[in-house]
Amino acid sequence: MEKLQGIKGGFLVALNGAKTPAELEAVRIRFLGRKSELTMILRSLKDLPLEERRNVGPRAQALRKEMEALLSNRLTSQESPAASQSQVDLSAPARKAERGHLHPLTLVDEEVRKIFSAMNFSVVEGPEIETEYYNFDALNIPADHPARDAWDTFWLKPANQKKLLRTHTSPVQIRYMEENNPPFQIIVPGRAFRYEATDASHEANFHQIEGLMVGKNVSLANFKFVVEEFFKRFFKNQKIQFRYRPSYFPFVEPGLEVDIKLGGKWLEIMGAGMVHPRVFEYAHYNPRDSQGFAFGMGIDRLAMIKYKIPDVRMFFDGDLRLIKQF
Ligand code: FA5
Repeated sequence: MEKLQGIKGGFLVALNGAKTPAELEAVRIRFLGRKSELTMILRSLKDLPLEERRNVGPRAQALRKEMEALLSNRLTSQESPAASQSQVDLSAPARKAERGHLHPLTLVDEEVRKIFSAMNFSVVEGPEIETEYYNFDALNIPADHPARDAWDTFWLKPANQKKLLRTHTSPVQIRYMEENNPPFQIIVPGRAFRYEATDASHEANFHQIEGLMVGKNVSLANFKFVVEEFFKRFFKNQKIQFRYRPSYFPFVEPGLEVDIKLGGKWLEIMGAGMVHPRVFEYAHYNPRDSQGFAFGMGIDRLAMIKYKIPDVRMFFDGDLRLIKQF
């Protein structure tokens, strides 16, 4: 019936145009209210001849149901909060993207690599799980030597394999010399592990940088130059004083310890010395042909000085208040 089609068309146009609840109500009254055309048709059904009533009645009823459904859909979608939130507020400030941070130890590690590379040192790495041979024996530290007590060691199971977590980066000296001939100069950054109680300057897991320079005439004077040049670059020409104290490590002779004074305080920063002839022999070098210096420096302590961090444990406890400052 054409009249019903016309009503539906008009209704759809009006529904589309209605934006507010009040406008929707007006549409309802106009198309479904008591005086609406459709209501009139439904009311007049009883006056129609039977044939026509059967034809028009169900269609008019169906149209009324359809229109009611469309209208109530629009009403509920207008009321639901999801609908209003879906409107994008272009004036809202953008959310700032979170950026990651490099850990202070990573920053120091990168800086140290850069400075030594610029002085023509190569960067070499070695395994964190070591054998007793490389960590101790080949470095001239025999099994019954009291110096072994200085390195409280994490031994790995099974015990008969004599594997351990390296207590320093020095075993890489031997590994490198087994594979390469002098002259050369290398640094070896990496983790070291010691089974000891932690305090503000000691961790069970810390970082070292080993240095090794070997040639025909490499001397302590060369060591002094390299080390002082490194610290001047690392601390960007702040006033630094250096102190060299005799010390003992079985893999060097003579051995020494280096302290630096930055501001008011002396700080012990590395162990060093001239490579012991026995160490060259373990690496299958002839000690008459080669000489060189080695050093081992604590990276965590260097980072503590550089960034004025009072406790080494702060590097590892994951507190974002520290990390986010870098
Ligand atoms: C050594 O480990 C020697 N291998 C260094 C060396 C290399 C000497 C080559 C001669 C020739 P030492 O135990 O002193 O030496 O450690 C060197 C540095 O590592 C220390 O000066 C310190 O800065 C750092 N260090 C040692 N133990 C810890 C620890 N538990 N926590 C943090 N840093 C540490």
